[in-house]
Amino acid sequence: MTDTIFQPTFGNRPNQYIGRDDVIEQFMQGLREPIGSRNRCTLFLGQRGMGKTALLLELSDRAAKEDFVVARVTAYEGMPKAIIEQLQLNGSPFFNDDRKKVAGFNAGVLGFSFGLTFSEAAERQYGFRSKMSLLCDRLAEKGKGALILIDEVCSSAAMREVASAYQELVGDGKNVAIAMAGLPHAVSAVLNDRVLTFLNRATKVNLGLISTNLIRAYYDRVFGTLDLRASDDILDRAAISTRGFPYLMQLIGYYLIQFTQNDGIISDKVLEKAEKAATKDLEDNVFKPILAPLSDNDRFFLKAMARCGEDITTAKLQSGLGNKRGALQTYRKRLLETGVIETPRRGELVFAVPYLADYLMNQKD
Ligand SMILES: Nc1ncnc2c1ncn2[C@@H]1O[C@H](COP(=O)(O)OP(=O)(O)OP(=O)(O)O)[C@@H](O)[C@H]1O
Ligand SMILES: [Mg+2]
Repeated sequence: MTDTIFQPTFGNRPNQYIGRDDVIEQFMQGLREPIGSRNRCTLFLGQRGMGKTALLLELSDRAAKEDFVVARVTAYEGMPKAIIEQLQLNGSPFFNDDRKKVAGFNAGVLGFSFGLTFSEAAERQYGFRSKMSLLCDRLAEKGKGALILIDEVCSSAAMREVASAYQELVGDGKNVAIAMAGLPHAVSAVLNDRVLTFLNRATKVNLGLISTNLIRAYYDRVFGTLDLRASDDILDRAAISTRGFPYLMQLIGYYLIQFTQNDGIISDKVLEKAEKAATKDLEDNVFKPILAPLSDNDRFFLKAMARCGEDITTAKLQSGLGNKRGALQTYRKRLLETGVIETPRRGELVFAVPYLADYLMNQKD
């Protein structure tokens, strides 16, 4: 059986965005707050597959319904130009009438030839900040604000340019807001000062695991619409198997549907097969990329952590680290910065992504 409800890929728009209502609402609320308020500049942090890109897509849709014209970009070098282009493109439907009115004449508003298209002089002379300022004014005429969504935040010249322009625009009272998403180490000490201050000042939201109850209910709904039958026990186990990890929710859902035979029954065997296939994808697409940039010592620490089991205590960790025990705090700090591990409560240490401990335990060397 094939269906497109579950799409276990990265960067796509999920059929339905599950959980995180509070996160979404907080940001949307920020958009309704006065210009410059803190929630209008938010940084979402989360590990691979936690749903950062999917969240930005969701925010883009919601904001567009609340009078914002949205530019969604990634933080690569061409970002400032891409932001301008996206705002022009997505804002142009609100200026259709203008185009008809001027029909070839250059009767534009200051800086524009028509609609959101800059005059030749403005195009040539102005940089990112001035163009943004003109665009914000023009959008304001139609009661619209500008929302910039930046995925894969990193330290770059482009990021610096956009960060400083944003602050100046806010200072000038322009209706602009910004949401960024990135891996947790995006804000670690390696970042350039100016970007770092900007990111540090932003409202930071950690995207963690989502509720398995919501996932269970979602599975139940989807299977119902597809006429697939799953017992309560299977639904429970499938939901628990995801451990609340969004990418895994997509993977398990996808394989459950794929492996179900014509009889439409999601059996034990189907679930087992789906879990196995999902684990393989998880290893290739999440664990390997997470572990690849880490040093041997970091990995050694993570393995010692994995061997501690559920209850990770300092004493257990020290004994697992053997003669490297002296560096415990150094490893701990560094791995917390990279977001591979987390401290949900003081003194507590956990892996940020489920099943990573099991994967490490099964690794040789
Ligand atoms: N809350 C959610 N509800 C439904 N599906 C989700 C949710 N969050 C993420 N997904 C799905 O999980 C997969 C991974 O999400 P996404 O690509 O957004 O991760 P990411 O955090 O951007 O990862 P990366 O750091 O690798 O870019 C996608 O298929 C996405 O549609
Ligand atoms: Mg992403």
